[in-house]
Amino acid sequence: HTRVLTGITTTGTPHLGNYVGAIRPAILASKDPQVDAFYFMADYHALIKSDDAARVEASRLQITATWLAGGLDPNTATFYRQSDIPEVPELMWLLTCVTAKGLLNRAHAYKAAVDRNLEIHEDPDAGVTAGLYMYPVLMAADILAFNANKVPVGRDQIQHIEMARDIAQRFNHTYGREFFVMPEAHIEEQVATLPGLDGRKMSKSYDNTIPLFEGGAKALRETIMKIVTDSRAPGEPKDTDDAALFTIFKAFATPAETVAFADALRGGIGWGEAKQVLFERLESEIAPMRERYDALMARPDDMEDILHTGAAKARAIAAPLLETLREAVGLRSYR
Ligand code: TYM
Repeated sequence: HTRVLTGITTTGTPHLGNYVGAIRPAILASKDPQVDAFYFMADYHALIKSDDAARVEASRLQITATWLAGGLDPNTATFYRQSDIPEVPELMWLLTCVTAKGLLNRAHAYKAAVDRNLEIHEDPDAGVTAGLYMYPVLMAADILAFNANKVPVGRDQIQHIEMARDIAQRFNHTYGREFFVMPEAHIEEQVATLPGLDGRKMSKSYDNTIPLFEGGAKALRETIMKIVTDSRAPGEPKDTDDAALFTIFKAFATPAETVAFADALRGGIGWGEAKQVLFERLESEIAPMRERYDALMARPDDMEDILHTGAAKARAIAAPLLETLREAVGLRSYR
């Protein structure tokens, strides 16, 4: 069995990038009988990015509903909320004490914040919390608490998985045993990075996302109409290579549909019409899921029950490991 684990930070409304890059392939993987899937809402990570409590809570419900509406079976997969697992922050501290500070200095998210400050001649650490600095250690704890072998993520997360390996190795070496297996990042090559409205990576931080469900079909259509295109008029052949519109279509269509759409673009169909084709293709995949999503969002208590059951399953794995680790570092209990 392969233990596959991944999480999503609960700071925003799920968008097409999260769905195509993380949720859809993860749900597919969970249907493989050889796979032992661990999927969770990273709500402790959310606190690093947002101090808006209402938003963190709403996002957690929306992301939970998205996994379930997308077809995740919580009886097969272990589906939970990070903050329901006290072993995660506990392990984080054990890992913190073997993690080199210099390793964390090199983390992309922290370095980007420091570089921004230096550019405006500020104190390099201005506005940087210890939470942002410790982000990779919390993520290592998420992965190592379950000894996951395979971690499907987008490219932006690769460095964090490498750090988790580093930290695991350091712990194993310090305490002289193979407590942790080395996790591997898994990137779906066909999926890679979904572009947003402006052609850059679809991301909450660029404000260029296409929400998956929020606002219904109307909002989906309106947002698709905002995808940036070049100025070629109807009748002029269009490039498919770096058109965000085409890349998004491709992520939702069969190879035959993709070829037909590329032909239509090269044949000079207008951008407005192309956007309508994209909308209809997306809507046919999204509409049935949106119905399930809306039903789930109306029953948050049911989702809570599902997450609690998932947390109990997850803790049954993490708790014995933490017992072993506590003993290994000298924190054994005599009771
Ligand atoms: P987060 O919440 O930023 O993103 C969740 C997942 O979605 C992927 N992703 C994308 N993939 C393709 N195209 C896009 N435009 C796009 N935008 C986002 C991300 O790469 C990610 O896989 N730190 C993590 C959450 C986390 C985690 C973990 C992941 C916490 N602990 C342990 C794996 C294992 C994060 O903030 O992802």
